[in-house]
Amino acid sequence: MKNIVVVGSQWGDEGKGKIVDWLSEQADVVIRFQGGHNAGHTLVIDGKTYKLRLLPSGIVRKNKISIIGNGVVVDPWALLEEIKEIKDKGIDVNVNNFIISESANLILPFHKEMDEIREDSAGKSKIGTTRRGIGPAYEDKVGRRSIRLMDLRSEINLDQRLDSVLLHHNAIRKGLGKKLFQKEQLKKDLLKIAPDLLKFSQPVWMKIDKFKKQNKKILFEGAQGILLDVDHGTYPFVTSSNTVASNAATGTGCGPDSINYVLGITKAYTTRVGEGPFPTELNDEIGELLGTKGKEFGTVTSRKRRCGWFDGVLVRQTIKVSGINGIALTKLDVLDDLDEIKMCIEYELNGKKIDYLPASVEDQLKIKPIFKSFKGWKKSTNGVKNIDELPQEAKNYIYAIEDFVGAKISSISTSPERDDTILVENPFEI
Ligand code: GDP
Ligand code: IMO
Ligand code: MG
Repeated sequence: MKNIVVVGSQWGDEGKGKIVDWLSEQADVVIRFQGGHNAGHTLVIDGKTYKLRLLPSGIVRKNKISIIGNGVVVDPWALLEEIKEIKDKGIDVNVNNFIISESANLILPFHKEMDEIREDSAGKSKIGTTRRGIGPAYEDKVGRRSIRLMDLRSEINLDQRLDSVLLHHNAIRKGLGKKLFQKEQLKKDLLKIAPDLLKFSQPVWMKIDKFKKQNKKILFEGAQGILLDVDHGTYPFVTSSNTVASNAATGTGCGPDSINYVLGITKAYTTRVGEGPFPTELNDEIGELLGTKGKEFGTVTSRKRRCGWFDGVLVRQTIKVSGINGIALTKLDVLDDLDEIKMCIEYELNGKKIDYLPASVEDQLKIKPIFKSFKGWKKSTNGVKNIDELPQEAKNYIYAIEDFVGAKISSISTSPERDDTILVENPFEI
């Protein structure tokens, strides 16, 4: 058995979609375990681009099973729209290749509205969320008033569940002077689409148990990145789920012994969308260049991503908190034109050197990065598929990252295209 969890080791958008799609050739099953349609995973296959939000990145390949686990929050309308979009691109989504956990919690219109109300009224302390209702939906899950996919099976049950969740939301809405949310129309709308969703629903834990017995290879596809983890990230500027690899077990219904290898997708520099600390951020022409060359605009919200140098201290830390065994280094080609490349190897806080990210945002905003400098290679690495063809300066940079963060580089991506990837060590064969 060989099951791999893929997670982002920074603030998301590291290229997880590309690497999951590339690796899924060797897998039988691809499962999302957390997040929702705040994720935006891009695949480029023979010049054709696919942008996936909720559907696992294995969906584009034939003879693979794609699963949305119980840990994912699902906006039913967003999912149906995405299924339609991908079908229009010639990809088949049917009850044989796609499953949603019957226990997945739903994102409903009042969650999105709550996300927006909060962001609009937060002023300087806004998080810069994707405004998809992710946070409010996870709050209702933990608050035990959420509506799960299975609740759409019975009108009586759905009616009671809606009463429970709306009691909470309408009390807040009333307090904020907002219009109360009406149950009847939402119930009607949900019952109308229920059959379209319920046909995909199954107990995922049972399926995984079967797959394990059949020796099938499972790829768990993380969303966001470890620095956006609600426990281990730059709280409160985080998402509302655990993005670390161990959540792959909880978010799908299997034990930690079902995870054999954790692959951390790592961008050769750093980006962040939304607010919050970013020690190596570049507010200069180099930051602009990284953004332009790397096409750093949000897949979901089209927002400009903030760009900065590679932060070795952060990645070394996320490797530890997520138990990352190896890394897939992406977007190396974006650095091709630079004379000098920098990597953060330490911070200074109140005149003292520290080698980790302090937990408080106050300190995170104060720390000053200390850099190590590398000579740029000034040659194109775009599309390189063999490590021997990389310029020596590029290899020096890659090996310095590997050495500093303490994890083996198992692959290197040199363009958005599926096959423009250098395989160093196959995680399925370790
Ligand atoms: P994800 O959320 O981690 O799946 O990443 P996104 O898809 O949001 O953002 C990564 C972007 O970088 C996408 O536009 C990818 O097509 C692109 N990309 C992935 N790998 C590479 C690479 O090695 N080089 C370049 N230039 N672009 C890449
Ligand atoms: P993928 O899977 C990058 C960020 C948002 C915001 C914070 C909270 O494509 O890497 P939320 O809507 O989740 O409550 O927003 O998290 N964020 C992401 N940033 N990539 C993502 O997903 C993200 N998903 C959420 O910008 O700062
Ligand atoms: Mg993304």
